[in-house]
Amino acid sequence: MNVSIIGLGFVGLTTAVCLAGKNIKVNCIDTDKKKIDVLSKGISPFYEQGLSKKLSKGIKTKNLNFLTNFSLIDKSDIIILAVGTPSNNDGSANLSFIRSASRSIGQRLKNVRKFQVIAVKSTVPPGTTTNIVKSIIEKISKKDATKDFGICSNPEFLKEGTAIYDTLNPDRIVIGSNDEKSFKIMKNFYEKFYRPKKIPIVKTNAQTAELIKYANNSFLATKISFINTIANISQRIPGTDVEKIAEAIGLDSRINPLFLKAGLGYGGSCFPKDVTAIINLAEKLGYSPELLKNTHKTNQMQPLESIKLLKKSIPNLKNKTISVLGLAFKPNTSDIRESVSIKIIKKLKKEKAKINVHDPMAIDEAKIVLKGINFCSTIKECIQDTDGCIIATEWEEYKKISPQFFKKHMKKSIIIDGRRALSPKKFTVMVDDYQAIGLGKNS
Ligand code: UGA
Repeated sequence: MNVSIIGLGFVGLTTAVCLAGKNIKVNCIDTDKKKIDVLSKGISPFYEQGLSKKLSKGIKTKNLNFLTNFSLIDKSDIIILAVGTPSNNDGSANLSFIRSASRSIGQRLKNVRKFQVIAVKSTVPPGTTTNIVKSIIEKISKKDATKDFGICSNPEFLKEGTAIYDTLNPDRIVIGSNDEKSFKIMKNFYEKFYRPKKIPIVKTNAQTAELIKYANNSFLATKISFINTIANISQRIPGTDVEKIAEAIGLDSRINPLFLKAGLGYGGSCFPKDVTAIINLAEKLGYSPELLKNTHKTNQMQPLESIKLLKKSIPNLKNKTISVLGLAFKPNTSDIRESVSIKIIKKLKKEKAKINVHDPMAIDEAKIVLKGINFCSTIKECIQDTDGCIIATEWEEYKKISPQFFKKHMKKSIIIDGRRALSPKKFTVMVDDYQAIGLGKNS
């Protein structure tokens, strides 16, 4: 089996190393030469648990081949499109990488005789696989989809931080194809790959598969904005705690406990982008999706709850030094895209506070976008002599900080637990002030 993967971001690269791990030859294609050079040396351009090990192994076994051109896709049985679909200014999905990759595939397909299936893994608006990818390839290659090559939508549901695990243990596989032959090839491919595990396969058409991906992400995003709404209410009712509420409602099997962690809002390269894309899409269709608009609006305001909590103790932040623990959009990644910390830091700057920041992994990334703040290499250096501290990412090492440590090093131990990383029981009695998202304080 020979597979080509176009676009080596989190989805493309993770898929590549997992396939290589099962002895499949993978041509890994990206137009970014720097990325290809680095990857060819066995270095991952971003941190992802377990990825480096699998990458080195794939190179050693010669199952992974990195290149900037499309020459080797001729040999492939399946060509996976995993290029990025960033947001345009109006929130819609930018499909320029999809278009250019489709043109390159079309060029190569001109001279290919065997039946290859093009699987679109990128998150794209419904209709893209058929109306853009298929049309471009047909036009350029002068071949017919279904007869000469196959095409399907095959969305991806992996999460950053657990990308390898999620790829090897998916809840389901969605194959959206408008022709039976492509569906069968993809189904056989996945059944063989996951054997002896039996992963449910959802069979549908391409446009439904594309919408499933948006529905999945916007449902999870809505679940987060929902629990954050409850947290904001709970925070204002003395004695209540959103963590208990989430535990109790999560035990209702119709709700389930996952994605009910209240905090400062969702970030990353997917939820914010996909929620705005589906809103944009619906509006173009003449429907205003009020629920999703409010999911987005709630999320945009949520990081500022941490500043409101901070201001309870420090009404005027001018010239105060505030430490922010955590820059990554979630733990176990160096990714800061749409991270809530960035919004918090911008607001603190506006209020003329001095800012110290720390993150176990994302400092280098953050230095590119954040200026005029103090980047610290240790937690101690970050909180030292500060007037208040906001926990913005729930890294394991922050969960282990004791109240005594904050008390010893901060000017005044005012702690805002934006991610419910610390024990309210211990912290409420031991630091000068402990405020947490969703925690209704008695005083
Ligand atoms: C998300 C989806 O979970 C994946 O299924 C999907 O494949 C991916 O987007 C994508 O479209 O590529 P990811 O963005 O990597 O994955 O990370 P998540 O673990 O979903 O977290 C997203 C954000 O939600 C983070 O900022 C996290 O802190 C926040 N979150 C998550 C909460 O605030 N509360 C929760 O209970 C869960």
